[in-house]
Amino acid sequence: MKYTSQMVAKPYFIFALILLAGEILFGLIMGVQYINGDFLFPYIPFNVARMVHTNLLIILILFAFMGATYYLVPEESERELWSPKLAIVTFWVFLFASVATILGYLLVPYSTLAEITYNNILPTMGREFLEQPTITKLGIVVVVLAFILNVTMTVLKGRRTVITVVLLTGLFGMAFFFLFAFYLPENLVLDKFFWWFVIHLWVEGVWELIMGAILSFVLIKVTGVDREHIDKWLYLIIAMTLVSGIVGTGHHFFYIGTPDYWLWIGSVASAVEPLPFFLMVIYAFTMAKKRRIDHENKIALTWAKGTAVMAFLGAGVWGFLHTLAPVNYYTHGTQLTAAHGHLSFFGAYIMIMFTIISYAMPIMRGRNKGNGPNAQKVERLSFWLMVWGMLGLTIALTVAGVWQIALQRWPESGEALSFMATQIEIIPVYMVRLGFGIMTFTGLVLYIYSFFVKDDYSSIKA
Ligand code: HEM
Ligand code: HEM
Ligand SMILES: [Fe+2]
Repeated sequence: MKYTSQMVAKPYFIFALILLAGEILFGLIMGVQYINGDFLFPYIPFNVARMVHTNLLIILILFAFMGATYYLVPEESERELWSPKLAIVTFWVFLFASVATILGYLLVPYSTLAEITYNNILPTMGREFLEQPTITKLGIVVVVLAFILNVTMTVLKGRRTVITVVLLTGLFGMAFFFLFAFYLPENLVLDKFFWWFVIHLWVEGVWELIMGAILSFVLIKVTGVDREHIDKWLYLIIAMTLVSGIVGTGHHFFYIGTPDYWLWIGSVASAVEPLPFFLMVIYAFTMAKKRRIDHENKIALTWAKGTAVMAFLGAGVWGFLHTLAPVNYYTHGTQLTAAHGHLSFFGAYIMIMFTIISYAMPIMRGRNKGNGPNAQKVERLSFWLMVWGMLGLTIALTVAGVWQIALQRWPESGEALSFMATQIEIIPVYMVRLGFGIMTFTGLVLYIYSFFVKDDYSSIKA
Protein backbone atom coordinates (compact mmCIF):
# COMPACT_ATOMS: atom_id res chain seq x y z
CA MET A 1 0.00 0.00 0.00
CA LYS A 2 1.39 3.38 -0.99
CA TYR A 3 -0.56 5.65 1.36
CA THR A 4 -1.62 4.79 4.91
CA SER A 5 -4.96 6.62 4.57
CA GLN A 6 -6.05 4.05 1.99
CA MET A 7 -6.66 1.80 5.00
CA VAL A 8 -9.98 3.57 5.73
CA ALA A 9 -11.41 1.49 2.88
CA LYS A 10 -11.13 -1.70 4.90
CA PRO A 11 -14.15 -1.33 7.23
CA TYR A 12 -16.27 -0.22 4.25
CA PHE A 13 -15.40 -3.42 2.37
CA ILE A 14 -15.95 -5.69 5.35
CA PHE A 15 -19.31 -4.18 6.18
CA ALA A 16 -20.40 -4.36 2.52
CA LEU A 17 -19.69 -8.10 2.52
CA ILE A 18 -21.68 -8.58 5.73
CA LEU A 19 -24.61 -6.68 4.21
CA LEU A 20 -24.36 -8.84 1.08
CA ALA A 21 -24.72 -11.97 3.20
CA GLY A 22 -27.85 -10.44 4.77
CA GLU A 23 -29.19 -9.38 1.38
CA ILE A 24 -28.89 -12.86 -0.10
CA LEU A 25 -30.38 -14.45 3.04
CA PHE A 26 -33.51 -12.35 2.66
CA GLY A 27 -33.56 -13.30 -1.02
CA LEU A 28 -33.55 -16.94 0.03
CA ILE A 29 -36.39 -16.30 2.49
CA MET A 30 -38.47 -14.88 -0.36
CA GLY A 31 -37.37 -17.74 -2.56
CA VAL A 32 -39.02 -20.09 -0.05
CA GLN A 33 -42.08 -17.86 0.30
CA TYR A 34 -42.64 -18.07 -3.47
CA ILE A 35 -43.12 -21.82 -2.90
CA ASN A 36 -44.82 -21.72 0.50
CA GLY A 37 -46.49 -18.35 1.03
CA ASP A 38 -46.86 -18.84 4.79
CA PHE A 39 -43.15 -19.31 5.46
CA LEU A 40 -42.14 -17.09 8.40
CA PHE A 41 -45.53 -15.38 8.46
CA PRO A 42 -46.35 -13.16 10.34
CA TYR A 43 -42.80 -12.46 11.52
CA ILE A 44 -41.23 -11.64 8.17
CA PRO A 45 -43.94 -11.00 5.55
CA PHE A 46 -42.92 -11.04 1.87
CA ASN A 47 -43.26 -7.27 1.44
CA VAL A 48 -40.92 -6.64 4.38
CA ALA A 49 -38.40 -9.25 3.20
CA ARG A 50 -38.45 -7.65 -0.26
CA MET A 51 -37.80 -4.20 1.16
CA VAL A 52 -34.92 -5.48 3.30
CA HIS A 53 -33.50 -7.41 0.31
CA THR A 54 -33.48 -4.46 -2.09
CA ASN A 55 -32.49 -1.84 0.49
CA LEU A 56 -29.55 -3.89 1.71
CA LEU A 57 -28.52 -4.18 -1.93
CA ILE A 58 -28.48 -0.41 -2.44
CA ILE A 59 -26.76 0.29 0.89
CA LEU A 60 -24.06 -2.31 0.35
CA ILE A 61 -23.29 -0.93 -3.10
CA LEU A 62 -22.91 2.55 -1.58
CA PHE A 63 -20.52 1.18 1.05
CA ALA A 64 -18.56 -0.64 -1.66
CA PHE A 65 -18.36 2.48 -3.86
CA MET A 66 -17.13 4.56 -0.92
CA GLY A 67 -14.56 1.95 0.07
CA ALA A 68 -13.33 1.67 -3.51
CA THR A 69 -13.08 5.45 -3.80
CA TYR A 70 -11.18 5.85 -0.54
CA TYR A 71 -8.78 3.14 -1.66
CA LEU A 72 -8.05 4.32 -5.17
CA VAL A 73 -8.20 8.11 -4.89
CA PRO A 74 -5.07 8.56 -2.71
CA GLU A 75 -3.09 6.29 -5.01
CA GLU A 76 -4.33 8.02 -8.16
CA SER A 77 -3.88 11.50 -6.66
CA GLU A 78 -0.49 10.60 -5.21
CA ARG A 79 -1.25 12.06 -1.80
CA GLU A 80 -2.93 11.06 1.44
CA LEU A 81 -6.67 11.39 1.84
CA TRP A 82 -7.74 14.91 2.82
CA SER A 83 -9.27 13.69 6.10
CA PRO A 84 -9.06 10.01 7.07
CA LYS A 85 -10.80 10.90 10.33
CA LEU A 86 -13.86 12.22 8.51
CA ALA A 87 -13.95 9.01 6.47
CA ILE A 88 -14.07 6.91 9.63
CA VAL A 89 -16.67 9.12 11.32
CA THR A 90 -18.94 8.95 8.26
CA PHE A 91 -18.47 5.18 8.18
CA TRP A 92 -19.92 4.82 11.66
CA VAL A 93 -22.71 7.33 11.04
CA PHE A 94 -23.71 5.49 7.87
CA LEU A 95 -23.44 2.11 9.57
CA PHE A 96 -25.66 3.23 12.43
CA ALA A 97 -28.26 4.78 10.11
CA SER A 98 -28.34 1.64 7.94
CA VAL A 99 -28.72 -0.81 10.82
CA ALA A 100 -31.39 1.33 12.48
CA THR A 101 -33.33 1.59 9.22
CA ILE A 102 -33.24 -2.16 8.51
CA LEU A 103 -34.27 -2.92 12.11
CA GLY A 104 -37.06 -0.39 11.69
CA TYR A 105 -38.35 -2.31 8.65
CA LEU A 106 -38.20 -5.60 10.55
CA LEU A 107 -39.59 -4.54 13.93
CA VAL A 108 -42.15 -1.82 13.26
CA PRO A 109 -45.08 -1.80 10.81
CA TYR A 110 -44.18 0.42 7.86
CA SER A 111 -46.98 2.90 8.52
CA THR A 112 -45.83 3.30 12.13
CA LEU A 113 -42.28 3.77 10.91
CA ALA A 114 -43.54 6.54 8.63
CA GLU A 115 -45.33 8.18 11.54
CA ILE A 116 -42.51 8.09 14.08
CA THR A 117 -40.01 9.38 11.53
CA TYR A 118 -42.22 12.36 10.62
CA ASN A 119 -42.85 11.32 7.04
CA ASN A 120 -45.84 13.70 7.10
CA ILE A 121 -43.56 16.75 7.20
CA LEU A 122 -41.58 15.79 4.08
CA PRO A 123 -43.16 12.67 2.53
CA THR A 124 -40.63 10.55 0.64
CA MET A 125 -41.44 7.00 1.74
CA GLY A 126 -43.12 4.12 -0.05
CA ARG A 127 -41.35 3.82 -3.38
CA GLU A 128 -39.35 0.75 -4.40
CA PHE A 129 -35.64 1.02 -3.47
CA LEU A 130 -36.37 4.39 -1.84
CA GLU A 131 -38.42 3.10 1.11
CA GLN A 132 -36.05 4.63 3.67
CA PRO A 133 -37.58 7.02 6.22
CA THR A 134 -37.02 10.65 5.29
CA ILE A 135 -34.57 11.11 8.18
CA THR A 136 -32.48 8.22 6.85
CA LYS A 137 -32.49 9.83 3.43
CA LEU A 138 -31.31 13.09 4.99
CA GLY A 139 -28.62 11.11 6.80
CA ILE A 140 -27.51 9.60 3.50
CA VAL A 141 -27.26 13.11 2.03
CA VAL A 142 -25.04 14.28 4.91
CA VAL A 143 -22.82 11.19 4.66
CA VAL A 144 -22.51 11.48 0.89
CA LEU A 145 -21.71 15.22 1.09
CA ALA A 146 -18.96 14.58 3.68
CA PHE A 147 -17.65 11.77 1.48
CA ILE A 148 -17.64 13.85 -1.68
CA LEU A 149 -16.01 16.79 0.12
CA ASN A 150 -13.25 14.49 1.38
CA VAL A 151 -12.61 12.98 -2.03
CA THR A 152 -12.84 16.25 -3.94
CA MET A 153 -10.34 17.97 -1.64
CA THR A 154 -7.96 15.06 -2.14
CA VAL A 155 -8.30 15.10 -5.91
CA LEU A 156 -8.01 18.89 -6.21
CA LYS A 157 -4.79 18.96 -4.23
CA GLY A 158 -3.21 16.00 -5.99
CA ARG A 159 -2.46 14.57 -9.40
CA ARG A 160 -5.51 14.56 -11.65
CA THR A 161 -6.09 11.44 -13.73
CA VAL A 162 -8.84 10.40 -16.13
CA ILE A 163 -9.86 7.74 -13.61
CA THR A 164 -10.43 10.23 -10.79
CA VAL A 165 -12.23 12.68 -13.08
CA VAL A 166 -14.61 9.98 -14.31
CA LEU A 167 -15.08 8.65 -10.78
CA LEU A 168 -15.85 12.08 -9.35
CA THR A 169 -18.27 12.85 -12.18
CA GLY A 170 -20.08 9.62 -11.32
CA LEU A 171 -20.16 10.41 -7.61
CA PHE A 172 -21.45 13.96 -8.12
CA GLY A 173 -24.08 12.59 -10.49
CA MET A 174 -25.12 10.01 -7.94
CA ALA A 175 -25.59 12.69 -5.29
CA PHE A 176 -27.46 14.96 -7.69
CA PHE A 177 -29.97 12.38 -8.90
CA PHE A 178 -30.63 11.23 -5.34
CA LEU A 179 -32.25 14.62 -4.80
CA PHE A 180 -35.24 13.39 -6.83
CA ALA A 181 -35.87 10.91 -4.00
CA PHE A 182 -37.16 13.93 -2.05
CA TYR A 183 -39.73 14.81 -4.70
CA LEU A 184 -42.91 12.79 -4.35
CA PRO A 185 -45.68 14.08 -6.65
CA GLU A 186 -49.22 12.99 -5.84
CA ASN A 187 -49.92 12.21 -9.49
CA LEU A 188 -48.92 8.57 -9.97
CA VAL A 189 -47.56 9.13 -13.49
CA LEU A 190 -45.34 12.00 -12.38
CA ASP A 191 -44.31 9.97 -9.36
CA LYS A 192 -43.06 7.06 -11.51
CA PHE A 193 -41.56 9.46 -14.04
CA PHE A 194 -39.27 11.08 -11.49
CA TRP A 195 -38.62 7.85 -9.57
CA TRP A 196 -36.71 6.65 -12.64
CA PHE A 197 -34.57 9.81 -12.48
CA VAL A 198 -33.03 8.18 -9.42
CA ILE A 199 -33.12 4.49 -10.32
CA HIS A 200 -32.46 4.47 -14.05
CA LEU A 201 -30.04 7.38 -14.13
CA TRP A 202 -28.10 5.73 -11.33
CA VAL A 203 -27.75 2.20 -12.71
CA GLU A 204 -27.63 3.06 -16.41
CA GLY A 205 -25.85 6.38 -16.06
CA VAL A 206 -23.65 7.64 -13.28
CA TRP A 207 -22.98 4.29 -11.59
CA GLU A 208 -21.57 3.02 -14.88
CA LEU A 209 -19.01 5.81 -14.66
CA ILE A 210 -18.06 4.70 -11.16
CA MET A 211 -17.84 1.11 -12.31
CA GLY A 212 -15.72 2.04 -15.33
CA ALA A 213 -13.31 3.98 -13.13
CA ILE A 214 -12.90 1.15 -10.59
CA LEU A 215 -12.47 -1.41 -13.37
CA SER A 216 -9.83 0.74 -15.05
CA PHE A 217 -7.91 1.20 -11.80
CA VAL A 218 -7.71 -2.53 -11.18
CA LEU A 219 -6.84 -3.25 -14.82
CA ILE A 220 -3.91 -0.82 -14.70
CA LYS A 221 -2.65 -2.41 -11.50
CA VAL A 222 -2.86 -6.05 -12.51
CA THR A 223 -1.91 -5.77 -16.19
CA GLY A 224 0.65 -2.96 -16.11
CA VAL A 225 -0.80 -1.58 -19.35
CA ASP A 226 -0.05 2.07 -20.21
CA ARG A 227 -2.39 4.62 -18.73
CA GLU A 228 -2.86 6.37 -22.11
CA HIS A 229 -4.30 3.16 -23.45
CA ILE A 230 -6.70 2.77 -20.56
CA ASP A 231 -7.77 6.43 -20.75
CA LYS A 232 -8.86 6.21 -24.39
CA TRP A 233 -11.06 3.20 -23.68
CA LEU A 234 -12.54 4.75 -20.59
CA TYR A 235 -13.47 7.97 -22.41
CA LEU A 236 -15.11 6.03 -25.22
CA ILE A 237 -17.12 3.83 -22.85
CA ILE A 238 -18.23 6.76 -20.73
CA ALA A 239 -19.27 8.85 -23.72
CA MET A 240 -21.37 5.99 -25.11
CA THR A 241 -22.91 5.39 -21.70
CA LEU A 242 -24.07 8.96 -21.29
CA VAL A 243 -25.28 9.38 -24.88
CA SER A 244 -27.45 6.24 -24.74
CA GLY A 245 -28.25 6.05 -21.03
CA ILE A 246 -29.69 9.52 -20.41
CA VAL A 247 -32.21 9.48 -23.25
CA GLY A 248 -32.61 5.73 -22.65
CA THR A 249 -34.61 6.61 -19.52
CA GLY A 250 -37.46 6.69 -22.03
CA HIS A 251 -37.69 2.87 -21.97
CA HIS A 252 -39.53 3.29 -18.66
CA PHE A 253 -42.06 5.76 -20.08
CA PHE A 254 -43.87 3.38 -22.44
CA TYR A 255 -47.32 2.61 -21.01
CA ILE A 256 -47.47 4.57 -17.78
CA GLY A 257 -49.51 7.54 -18.97
CA THR A 258 -46.72 9.51 -20.67
CA PRO A 259 -46.93 10.85 -24.28
CA ASP A 260 -46.60 8.43 -27.24
CA TYR A 261 -43.31 9.77 -28.51
CA TRP A 262 -41.53 7.98 -25.69
CA LEU A 263 -42.29 4.67 -27.42
CA TRP A 264 -39.85 5.62 -30.20
CA ILE A 265 -37.36 7.66 -28.21
CA GLY A 266 -37.11 5.09 -25.42
CA SER A 267 -36.81 2.11 -27.75
CA VAL A 268 -34.18 3.62 -30.04
CA ALA A 269 -31.97 5.22 -27.38
CA SER A 270 -32.01 2.29 -24.99
CA ALA A 271 -31.30 -0.18 -27.81
CA VAL A 272 -27.85 1.47 -27.94
CA GLU A 273 -27.24 0.97 -24.20
CA PRO A 274 -25.76 -2.54 -24.50
CA LEU A 275 -22.91 -1.09 -26.62
CA PRO A 276 -20.83 0.46 -23.81
CA PHE A 277 -21.25 -2.78 -21.85
CA PHE A 278 -20.00 -4.72 -24.86
CA LEU A 279 -17.04 -2.34 -25.20
CA MET A 280 -16.20 -3.04 -21.56
CA VAL A 281 -15.84 -6.75 -22.37
CA ILE A 282 -13.47 -6.06 -25.29
CA TYR A 283 -11.64 -3.53 -23.11
CA ALA A 284 -11.03 -5.92 -20.21
CA PHE A 285 -9.93 -8.80 -22.44
CA THR A 286 -7.71 -6.61 -24.65
CA MET A 287 -5.95 -5.20 -21.59
CA ALA A 288 -5.52 -8.69 -20.16
CA LYS A 289 -3.99 -9.85 -23.44
CA LYS A 290 -1.65 -6.85 -23.71
CA ARG A 291 -0.51 -7.15 -20.13
CA ARG A 292 3.10 -6.26 -19.44
CA ILE A 293 3.32 -7.87 -16.03
CA ASP A 294 2.20 -11.20 -14.66
CA HIS A 295 0.66 -10.11 -11.41
CA GLU A 296 0.50 -12.82 -8.75
CA ASN A 297 -3.02 -11.76 -7.83
CA LYS A 298 -4.55 -13.71 -10.70
CA ILE A 299 -8.01 -13.91 -9.20
CA ALA A 300 -8.36 -10.09 -9.24
CA LEU A 301 -7.99 -10.14 -13.03
CA THR A 302 -10.52 -12.98 -13.21
CA TRP A 303 -13.01 -10.83 -11.29
CA ALA A 304 -12.30 -7.85 -13.57
CA LYS A 305 -12.95 -9.88 -16.72
CA GLY A 306 -15.93 -11.58 -15.08
CA THR A 307 -17.47 -8.24 -14.17
CA ALA A 308 -17.32 -7.04 -17.77
CA VAL A 309 -18.85 -10.27 -19.13
CA MET A 310 -21.59 -10.60 -16.53
CA ALA A 311 -22.53 -6.92 -16.68
CA PHE A 312 -22.83 -7.23 -20.46
CA LEU A 313 -25.05 -10.30 -20.09
CA GLY A 314 -27.25 -8.91 -17.30
CA ALA A 315 -27.58 -5.31 -18.46
CA GLY A 316 -26.81 -5.61 -22.17
CA VAL A 317 -28.41 -8.89 -23.24
CA TRP A 318 -31.15 -9.27 -20.63
CA GLY A 319 -31.82 -5.53 -20.79
CA PHE A 320 -32.20 -5.52 -24.56
CA LEU A 321 -34.56 -8.47 -24.30
CA HIS A 322 -37.41 -6.26 -23.06
CA THR A 323 -36.36 -2.74 -23.98
CA LEU A 324 -38.27 -2.34 -27.27
CA ALA A 325 -41.77 -0.97 -26.67
CA PRO A 326 -43.75 -3.71 -28.48
CA VAL A 327 -41.94 -6.37 -26.42
CA ASN A 328 -42.18 -4.43 -23.16
CA TYR A 329 -45.94 -4.24 -23.71
CA TYR A 330 -46.07 -7.94 -22.73
CA THR A 331 -43.04 -8.27 -20.45
CA HIS A 332 -43.46 -5.20 -18.22
CA GLY A 333 -43.30 -6.05 -14.52
CA THR A 334 -43.12 -9.82 -15.05
CA GLN A 335 -40.53 -12.28 -13.76
CA LEU A 336 -38.54 -11.36 -16.86
CA THR A 337 -37.98 -7.95 -15.28
CA ALA A 338 -36.76 -9.67 -12.11
CA ALA A 339 -34.46 -11.91 -14.18
CA HIS A 340 -32.84 -8.83 -15.71
CA GLY A 341 -32.77 -6.99 -12.36
CA HIS A 342 -30.86 -9.84 -10.73
CA LEU A 343 -28.20 -10.46 -13.36
CA SER A 344 -27.57 -6.77 -14.06
CA PHE A 345 -27.21 -5.74 -10.42
CA PHE A 346 -25.06 -8.74 -9.66
CA GLY A 347 -22.96 -8.68 -12.83
CA ALA A 348 -22.23 -4.98 -12.71
CA TYR A 349 -22.32 -3.69 -9.16
CA ILE A 350 -21.79 -6.73 -6.96
CA MET A 351 -19.02 -8.08 -9.14
CA ILE A 352 -17.16 -4.76 -9.39
CA MET A 353 -17.17 -4.78 -5.59
CA PHE A 354 -15.59 -8.23 -5.55
CA THR A 355 -13.05 -7.03 -8.13
CA ILE A 356 -11.78 -4.13 -6.03
CA ILE A 357 -11.94 -6.10 -2.77
CA SER A 358 -10.00 -8.99 -4.26
CA TYR A 359 -7.36 -6.60 -5.48
CA ALA A 360 -7.16 -4.24 -2.50
CA MET A 361 -7.92 -6.37 0.54
CA PRO A 362 -4.79 -8.58 0.35
CA ILE A 363 -2.65 -5.44 0.06
CA MET A 364 -4.34 -3.88 3.09
CA ARG A 365 -3.51 -7.07 4.94
CA GLY A 366 0.17 -6.80 4.05
CA ARG A 367 0.08 -9.24 1.14
CA ASN A 368 1.32 -7.00 -1.64
CA LYS A 369 1.30 -9.71 -4.27
CA GLY A 370 -2.20 -10.88 -3.50
CA ASN A 371 -3.33 -13.85 -1.48
CA GLY A 372 -1.38 -17.07 -1.54
CA PRO A 373 -2.23 -19.97 -3.90
CA ASN A 374 -4.42 -21.82 -1.38
CA ALA A 375 -6.61 -18.81 -0.68
CA GLN A 376 -6.84 -17.96 -4.39
CA LYS A 377 -7.94 -21.49 -5.14
CA VAL A 378 -10.83 -21.24 -2.68
CA GLU A 379 -11.69 -17.80 -4.01
CA ARG A 380 -11.74 -19.09 -7.60
CA LEU A 381 -14.22 -21.77 -6.60
CA SER A 382 -16.37 -19.11 -4.90
CA PHE A 383 -16.20 -17.02 -8.10
CA TRP A 384 -17.64 -19.85 -10.19
CA LEU A 385 -20.26 -20.80 -7.60
CA MET A 386 -21.58 -17.25 -7.47
CA VAL A 387 -21.39 -16.68 -11.22
CA TRP A 388 -23.19 -19.93 -12.09
CA GLY A 389 -25.58 -19.50 -9.16
CA MET A 390 -26.71 -16.10 -10.40
CA LEU A 391 -26.76 -17.19 -14.05
CA GLY A 392 -28.88 -20.22 -13.14
CA LEU A 393 -31.19 -18.10 -11.01
CA THR A 394 -31.57 -15.66 -13.90
CA ILE A 395 -32.31 -18.37 -16.45
CA ALA A 396 -34.91 -19.88 -14.10
CA LEU A 397 -36.57 -16.47 -13.73
CA THR A 398 -36.47 -16.03 -17.51
CA VAL A 399 -38.35 -19.31 -17.96
CA ALA A 400 -40.76 -18.21 -15.23
CA GLY A 401 -41.24 -14.89 -17.01
CA VAL A 402 -41.98 -16.41 -20.42
CA TRP A 403 -44.37 -18.88 -18.82
CA GLN A 404 -46.08 -16.09 -16.90
CA ILE A 405 -46.53 -14.05 -20.07
CA ALA A 406 -47.93 -17.08 -21.90
CA LEU A 407 -50.53 -17.73 -19.20
CA GLN A 408 -51.35 -14.25 -17.98
CA ARG A 409 -50.53 -11.63 -20.61
CA TRP A 410 -50.68 -13.17 -24.06
CA PRO A 411 -54.17 -14.79 -24.12
CA GLU A 412 -57.27 -12.73 -24.90
CA SER A 413 -58.74 -11.31 -21.71
CA GLY A 414 -61.37 -14.01 -21.17
CA GLU A 415 -58.88 -16.87 -21.26
CA ALA A 416 -55.99 -15.30 -19.36
CA LEU A 417 -55.19 -16.65 -15.90
CA SER A 418 -55.10 -14.29 -12.95
CA PHE A 419 -51.76 -13.20 -11.48
CA MET A 420 -51.93 -15.56 -8.50
CA ALA A 421 -53.24 -18.54 -10.48
CA THR A 422 -50.29 -18.05 -12.82
CA GLN A 423 -47.78 -17.93 -9.98
CA ILE A 424 -49.02 -21.27 -8.63
CA GLU A 425 -48.45 -22.90 -12.05
CA ILE A 426 -44.86 -21.72 -12.06
CA ILE A 427 -43.87 -23.11 -8.65
CA PRO A 428 -41.63 -25.89 -10.10
CA VAL A 429 -39.45 -23.22 -11.70
CA TYR A 430 -39.27 -21.33 -8.40
CA MET A 431 -37.82 -24.45 -6.82
CA VAL A 432 -35.03 -24.39 -9.37
CA ARG A 433 -34.51 -20.69 -8.63
CA LEU A 434 -34.16 -21.46 -4.94
CA GLY A 435 -31.55 -24.14 -5.68
CA PHE A 436 -29.39 -21.69 -7.62
CA GLY A 437 -29.91 -19.12 -4.87
CA ILE A 438 -28.48 -21.53 -2.32
CA MET A 439 -25.55 -22.13 -4.67
CA THR A 440 -24.90 -18.37 -4.79
CA PHE A 441 -25.01 -18.10 -1.03
CA THR A 442 -22.58 -21.03 -0.69
CA GLY A 443 -20.24 -19.16 -3.03
CA LEU A 444 -20.35 -16.08 -0.82
CA VAL A 445 -19.66 -18.10 2.32
CA LEU A 446 -16.67 -19.63 0.57
CA TYR A 447 -15.49 -16.18 -0.52
CA ILE A 448 -15.52 -14.96 3.07
CA TYR A 449 -13.85 -18.19 4.19
CA SER A 450 -11.02 -17.57 1.69
CA PHE A 451 -9.89 -14.66 3.90
CA PHE A 452 -8.97 -17.20 6.58
CA VAL A 453 -7.25 -19.81 4.41
CA LYS A 454 -3.65 -20.35 5.46
CA ASP A 455 -0.76 -19.75 3.06
CA ASP A 456 2.94 -19.21 3.50
CA TYR A 457 3.67 -15.47 3.41
CA SER A 458 7.03 -15.57 5.16
CA SER A 459 8.90 -14.50 2.01
CA ILE A 460 6.68 -11.47 1.35
CA LYS A 461 7.63 -8.10 2.85
CA ALA A 462 4.65 -6.02 3.85
C1 HEM B 1 -26.35 -10.73 -5.05
C2 HEM B 1 -27.43 -11.39 -5.35
C3 HEM B 1 -28.77 -10.75 -5.59
C4 HEM B 1 -29.06 -9.53 -6.15
C5 HEM B 1 -28.09 -8.50 -6.70
C6 HEM B 1 -30.50 -9.37 -6.13
C7 HEM B 1 -31.21 -8.27 -6.60
C8 HEM B 1 -32.57 -8.10 -6.58
C9 HEM B 1 -33.29 -6.99 -7.16
C10 HEM B 1 -32.64 -5.83 -7.90
C11 HEM B 1 -34.61 -7.17 -6.92
C12 HEM B 1 -35.75 -6.29 -7.41
C13 HEM B 1 -36.14 -6.84 -8.76
C14 HEM B 1 -37.22 -6.14 -9.52
O1 HEM B 1 -37.92 -5.28 -8.97
O2 HEM B 1 -37.40 -6.45 -10.70
C15 HEM B 1 -34.75 -8.41 -6.20
C16 HEM B 1 -35.94 -8.98 -5.81
C17 HEM B 1 -36.06 -10.29 -5.40
N1 HEM B 1 -35.04 -11.19 -5.20
FE1 HEM B 1 -33.07 -10.84 -5.35
N2 HEM B 1 -31.06 -10.49 -5.57
C18 HEM B 1 -30.04 -11.36 -5.25
C19 HEM B 1 -30.17 -12.63 -4.72
C20 HEM B 1 -31.36 -13.28 -4.57
C21 HEM B 1 -31.52 -14.67 -4.22
C22 HEM B 1 -30.37 -15.64 -3.96
C23 HEM B 1 -32.86 -14.92 -4.20
C24 HEM B 1 -33.60 -16.20 -3.91
C25 HEM B 1 -33.21 -17.39 -4.16
C26 HEM B 1 -33.54 -13.69 -4.53
C27 HEM B 1 -34.92 -13.56 -4.59
C28 HEM B 1 -35.59 -12.40 -4.86
C29 HEM B 1 -37.03 -12.27 -4.83
C30 HEM B 1 -38.02 -13.39 -4.53
C31 HEM B 1 -37.33 -10.94 -5.15
C32 HEM B 1 -38.71 -10.29 -5.22
C33 HEM B 1 -39.30 -10.46 -6.58
C34 HEM B 1 -40.73 -10.04 -6.58
O3 HEM B 1 -41.07 -8.91 -6.24
O4 HEM B 1 -41.58 -10.88 -6.92
N3 HEM B 1 -32.61 -12.71 -4.76
N4 HEM B 1 -33.48 -8.95 -6.01
C1 HEM C 1 -26.16 -2.39 -14.69
C2 HEM C 1 -27.14 -1.84 -15.31
C3 HEM C 1 -28.60 -2.13 -15.05
C4 HEM C 1 -29.22 -2.44 -13.86
C5 HEM C 1 -28.58 -2.60 -12.48
C6 HEM C 1 -30.63 -2.59 -14.15
C7 HEM C 1 -31.60 -2.92 -13.22
C8 HEM C 1 -32.95 -2.94 -13.45
C9 HEM C 1 -33.97 -3.22 -12.47
C10 HEM C 1 -33.74 -3.58 -11.00
C11 HEM C 1 -35.18 -3.10 -13.07
C12 HEM C 1 -36.55 -3.31 -12.42
C13 HEM C 1 -37.01 -2.05 -11.79
C14 HEM C 1 -38.39 -2.16 -11.22
O1 HEM C 1 -38.51 -2.58 -10.08
O2 HEM C 1 -39.37 -1.86 -11.92
C15 HEM C 1 -34.92 -2.74 -14.46
C16 HEM C 1 -35.90 -2.51 -15.41
C17 HEM C 1 -35.64 -2.38 -16.75
N1 HEM C 1 -34.41 -2.38 -17.38
FE1 HEM C 1 -32.63 -2.42 -16.45
N2 HEM C 1 -30.83 -2.38 -15.49
C18 HEM C 1 -29.62 -2.10 -16.07
C19 HEM C 1 -29.38 -1.86 -17.41
C20 HEM C 1 -30.33 -1.94 -18.43
C21 HEM C 1 -30.07 -1.83 -19.83
C22 HEM C 1 -28.69 -1.57 -20.45
C23 HEM C 1 -31.26 -1.95 -20.47
C24 HEM C 1 -31.58 -1.92 -21.95
C25 HEM C 1 -30.80 -2.29 -22.91
C26 HEM C 1 -32.28 -2.13 -19.46
C27 HEM C 1 -33.63 -2.24 -19.70
C28 HEM C 1 -34.61 -2.27 -18.73
C29 HEM C 1 -36.03 -2.17 -18.99
C30 HEM C 1 -36.70 -2.03 -20.35
C31 HEM C 1 -36.68 -2.23 -17.76
C32 HEM C 1 -38.19 -2.14 -17.49
C33 HEM C 1 -38.77 -3.50 -17.33
C34 HEM C 1 -40.26 -3.46 -17.16
O3 HEM C 1 -40.92 -2.74 -17.90
O4 HEM C 1 -40.78 -4.17 -16.29
N3 HEM C 1 -31.68 -2.13 -18.23
N4 HEM C 1 -33.57 -2.66 -14.67
FE1 LIG D 1 -33.56 1.71 -17.34
